[in-house]
Amino acid sequence: MIGLPGVRVNSRSHQTNKSGHAENRAGTEYFFTSKCAVRDTMGIDAEVAKAADMIHDQQEVTIISHIDADGISSEAILSQALTREGIVTKSVFVRQLEPLTMHQVPEDRTFKIFTDLGAGQQNLLLEKGLDSENVLIIDHHVSQPCATGYFQVNCIPHGLLKLSAAGLAYLVAHKLDPDNCDLAKIAVIGNVGDMMAREHRGLTGPAREIVDDGVSHGSILVRPHDLNCYGTSTRPLHVCLAYMDDPFITGISNNVHGARRFLKKMDIQGNDGKRDLIWEGLPFPERKKIMSALVEQLMANGEPFDRLFCETYLFPGENEGEPLRNAQEFATVLNACGRWAQPGIGSAICRGDRSVAYRDAKKMLSNHRAVIRELLQYILDKGVIEISHLQYIHVGNRFPDTIVGIGAGMALSKLNSGKPILIMCELPEDPSLIKASMRTTERVVARGVDLQEVASRVSTELGGSGGGHKIAAGAYIPRGSEARFVIRANELLGEQHSPESPGHR
Ligand code: C5P
Ligand code: C5P
Repeated sequence: MIGLPGVRVNSRSHQTNKSGHAENRAGTEYFFTSKCAVRDTMGIDAEVAKAADMIHDQQEVTIISHIDADGISSEAILSQALTREGIVTKSVFVRQLEPLTMHQVPEDRTFKIFTDLGAGQQNLLLEKGLDSENVLIIDHHVSQPCATGYFQVNCIPHGLLKLSAAGLAYLVAHKLDPDNCDLAKIAVIGNVGDMMAREHRGLTGPAREIVDDGVSHGSILVRPHDLNCYGTSTRPLHVCLAYMDDPFITGISNNVHGARRFLKKMDIQGNDGKRDLIWEGLPFPERKKIMSALVEQLMANGEPFDRLFCETYLFPGENEGEPLRNAQEFATVLNACGRWAQPGIGSAICRGDRSVAYRDAKKMLSNHRAVIRELLQYILDKGVIEISHLQYIHVGNRFPDTIVGIGAGMALSKLNSGKPILIMCELPEDPSLIKASMRTTERVVARGVDLQEVASRVSTELGGSGGGHKIAAGAYIPRGSEARFVIRANELLGEQHSPESPGHR
């Protein structure tokens, strides 16, 4: 790439600088069985009710959804709920609704439900000739103004920013029939997959009520104040601890031997003589002991420890030691399927297939993880180019466009998380286009940054298209316009920062 602005900087280990407190109630699990909760009235209730009415009238429905964990979960919820109503459904997954993929939307007379996409691409639906009577959009993306008023269930205008499309799909499914509360589990996977639980409080608002439905149904077990670490249901304990880098714990993070020594010092065995132990399987007193020691260590270094904790959602109906046991890991399985062009396999797993589909998904999962590790390493080795309001890297054709967004999110915790990150890559199926993925943090969003606005405005200026959320956005832009994208995105990000912004770190 030539002509891109800025100077490449070395990557560095990120250490959180948020202050925090934690009342150590780690492991106080709750899990009870009763009838599903009666939902409180919410701002979007009227939309949900109208959507259920629209669906009731249909005989054949095509569900058009996104290939990520939230899109697959949304589709799995809707296809099951509709089938239970006796409605014939067919599903189509797209990488994104854009001119290149619109041909995948069938030109038939079936009622079309767009989920986890559609709100930001209504003009494409109009161009395709879809009439509003025949379309329902269930989405959590910012809407695009459009002459045709396609009916939407969309949480964004109601100020509900912590609900994913699977959460909305679940509300509609629950409205169709409260017995659909078994699908709450899938909605939680979608919500977690779309990072709606990224704060240590876990899922909140309507997404929390959905968790409660799953708990009442008996399919979800909640662990509040659990260890904020990916892989607590599958990774050997010491590996799990070593992978935890936010907060960065000196001597343990990125240090498998150090993590082993830490456990040994506390007299906690890493295996039971036959196999490695996993965090999820440890008895509560041992989990508490480890948490307390980690808190002490962070405090001794004068570092905050709030990010040590998170809320974990476990599925007691799944086998212990399997990724499907844990909402976060289940979501990665779905992402692996979707991002490697097999979203239907992910959907089959959501519907309960634990044989062929799951075996195939596990292969994709290990490939997915390996490629993400490779991407992360590439970003860290090569270094991002840091300019005034942005850090970016162009990975050319080295990595698939479907995973650069995931890589961007993961790299951010290892880089300067005070500046949004942009990753650009080539699109193998269309050499005239470049994919751009942007990610930032809640803290930066709180300063006024809105990546959705940046992605959509700048890509439109350059003749492309884009959208997403304040915290995560993407775009397709013409090849050759990368330098202009970087310059304009940087300018807009500068304008978005509030004047009293304390800086970028
Ligand atoms: O909204 P959509 O499902 O299309 O988002 C795709 C990706 O964007 C998610 O997999 C997640 O990595 C990221 N995302 C995020 N925070 C959000 C919403 C999405 O990081 N609030
Ligand atoms: O592809 P990626 O994971 O980076 O997408 C981040 C967010 O941006 C998602 O919510 C996705 O739906 C949105 N996006 C979009 N238009 C694009 C690419 C991504 O709205 N052309």
